[in-house]
Amino acid sequence: MPVGSDRNVEGAAQPPPLGAGAAADRIAATGAAAPILSVNNIEVVYDHVILVLKGVSLTVPKGKIVALLGANGAGKSTTLKAISNLLSAERGEVTKGSIIFDGEEVHARSPNELVRRGCIQVMEGRHCFAHLSVEENLLTGAFTRGGAGAAIRRDLDLVYSYFPRLKERRSATAGYISGGEQQMCAIGRALMSRPKMILLDEPSMGLAPQLVEEIFKIVGDLNAKEGVSFLLAEQNTRMALKRATAMCWKAAAWCSTAMPRPWARTRT
Ligand SMILES: Nc1ncnc2c1ncn2[C@@H]1O[C@H](COP(=O)(O)OP(=O)(O)OP(=O)(O)O)[C@@H](O)[C@H]1O
Ligand SMILES: [Mg+2]
Repeated sequence: MPVGSDRNVEGAAQPPPLGAGAAADRIAATGAAAPILSVNNIEVVYDHVILVLKGVSLTVPKGKIVALLGANGAGKSTTLKAISNLLSAERGEVTKGSIIFDGEEVHARSPNELVRRGCIQVMEGRHCFAHLSVEENLLTGAFTRGGAGAAIRRDLDLVYSYFPRLKERRSATAGYISGGEQQMCAIGRALMSRPKMILLDEPSMGLAPQLVEEIFKIVGDLNAKEGVSFLLAEQNTRMALKRATAMCWKAAAWCSTAMPRPWARTRT
């Protein structure tokens, strides 16, 4: 059962042990082409005057990883914040276009409602709660879903099965663990909300190549085994394309998943 299934239902059937590829197989059988997210021709303005995005469109099919690539300042983080409805915290707003997550317009929903519906963002720069332990950080991820302690415990074990290093450091203060461990903690915390989709902003930032490789492998595993869809904003094109099913390139005011060669790339 994918992480995003049977969410928020107390006493609902719990995920079976991780079965290799089971979720991915089911997704393939039920039609992988259905989009979980579509961004349609959006425009974003900060402070009522600063036009940052114009005419941006992209689609993430259910159960896939789409890489959103672009240089510094291209608008990757802004695109993700528009999707998770976090722009208003920075005096930004979507002034044109629409964003549909799982069949519903996201602007009808608050960010916490979106998390409950299965769409969560892992912000650029990790943002762990520095004074809490690793395990306390992970538990905060389950806050929006409520539910029984046993179910939360099982999900904690699931997170630890993907990130054994977090299990070793479960009692450590998050502010003092390494950057790579903080990134794992931030992704693990997002998993605790049982997401259908994670918006992952620059997971490679400031990390050694070996750690970047490890984190991207885990992202690939979460996608393949748990069926979590990803929109992955990255400057590290090589690593992102290694895992992505499709990509879009955000340059100036243009972004589309319908890419001309040589950028178009599809992997099944
Ligand atoms: N809160 C804000 N107010 C005004 N302008 C902003 C704000 N946040 C971002 N911008 C501007 O929007 C543009 C896009 O920024 P954004 O952070 O989305 O880019 P990015 O592609 O994520 O860059 P990076 O790779 O450096 O993270 C930049 O020119 C930036 O200065
Ligand atoms: Mg950014």
